[in-house]
Amino acid sequence: MIFLGNQSKKKMKILAIETSCDETAIAIVDGLQNESDTRITVLGNALFSQIELHKEYGGVFPALAKREHSKNIVPLTRQALSEAHLIQDDTNTISKDIHYDIEKILEREPSLLEQFFPFIENIEIPDIDAIAVTAGPGLAPALWVGVNFARALSLVWNKPIVAVNHMEGHILSSLAKRISDTQLHIGNIDLPVLALLISGGHTELVLMRQWLSYELIGQTRDDAVGEAFDKVARMLGLPYPGGPEISKIAEEVRLEKNKENLFELPRPMITESTCDFSFSGLKTAVLYTIKNKSGKPYDISTIKEFHASDMTEKERRYLAYEFEQSVGDVLLSKTIRAIEKTNANTLVIGGGVSANIHIGNIFREKLSEKYPNMSLHIPHPSLATDNAVMIALSGFYHAQKNDYTDPKDIVASGNASLT
Ligand code: KG4
Ligand code: ZN
Repeated sequence: MIFLGNQSKKKMKILAIETSCDETAIAIVDGLQNESDTRITVLGNALFSQIELHKEYGGVFPALAKREHSKNIVPLTRQALSEAHLIQDDTNTISKDIHYDIEKILEREPSLLEQFFPFIENIEIPDIDAIAVTAGPGLAPALWVGVNFARALSLVWNKPIVAVNHMEGHILSSLAKRISDTQLHIGNIDLPVLALLISGGHTELVLMRQWLSYELIGQTRDDAVGEAFDKVARMLGLPYPGGPEISKIAEEVRLEKNKENLFELPRPMITESTCDFSFSGLKTAVLYTIKNKSGKPYDISTIKEFHASDMTEKERRYLAYEFEQSVGDVLLSKTIRAIEKTNANTLVIGGGVSANIHIGNIFREKLSEKYPNMSLHIPHPSLATDNAVMIALSGFYHAQKNDYTDPKDIVASGNASLT
């Protein structure tokens, strides 16, 4: 068994900011690191999902995401602080110099700047130890809102900043055992940990031999798995985000007795010896299947124009099911390959697609059969898709090591890598 962290017990309160995609989220956690485990209490957790706004674009529209983060981040911070009982009305006078610097920092976020001073100048400096912010990966314009907000807060409150890698947040939120709505424990993790990260922007297998140090084992060569779910859903006329929609339909089909074998999609790269993935061919195979059924011309670059209206309802449902079967088979087989290659003792599944019921079920079933001693961590649904608690977890561990970044040097990086 591996014991985590240093010998001293350190208690820290972290305010975390997440704006990497279409969720604006602020969380405040109180963490305590013991010799063998870390106990996290979620004091405040505020999240606004922009999904409804992006639906009409069939995906995340970056300029809209940025505008919405900028508009909502201050009210969400107030909400999280007040839930955490960390907000006290008071006058907080800001010097002219700092005022000027903040205006520069927030010059590209007008609606955030407009709300910043009326908020900050009327509350006491909250009792937190550090600010954690997602610096990447994600959509650069969206990330910048969070990063600039963190820099401005750091300046007025004089608190250090941890620049967090979003994917590390997904790994840690999956490793966290959820004791209750507000209590999480991370401990007794048997290294090496293999992480299958499956989200809208990522599909990768990453190995953690040492705590918070990563090695890339495999990755997608084209589309991310969440992206494939979203695109296939669009082809089938389902709304964004497509993952949960396909999952719902596929679960219903799975329960049907006497299922017919209507479609057979490929399992891309399943027999190749690497741990890499490819999902764009699978997406194209779905497209061809729809085309064959509808007899309409097709063009992969204008998927938006497609709808599977000439397919029967049953055919659409069965195609969604077969797509999910294929994804599940590929993810499982590549992960087994990676376990064999790395001798990992713990498997973590993280990222939004880890909320998928079928994927969770096949991994639970197959791993307990094939590797009975291996522990498998799948995040609680509330921690699977983007949130700020996961950023706070990563922030907490780095703050314990004084792993801070000078606010001036933090750069939002759309394709930041863990390895
Ligand atoms: O991690 P996440 O919230 O955001 C990114 O960092 O990308 O992941 C979002 C992705 C979307 O592609 C969404 O369709 C997918 O996760 N997703 C799912 C499910 N819930 C969310 N995919 C399959 N089944 C689900 N139940
Ligand atoms: Zn994510």
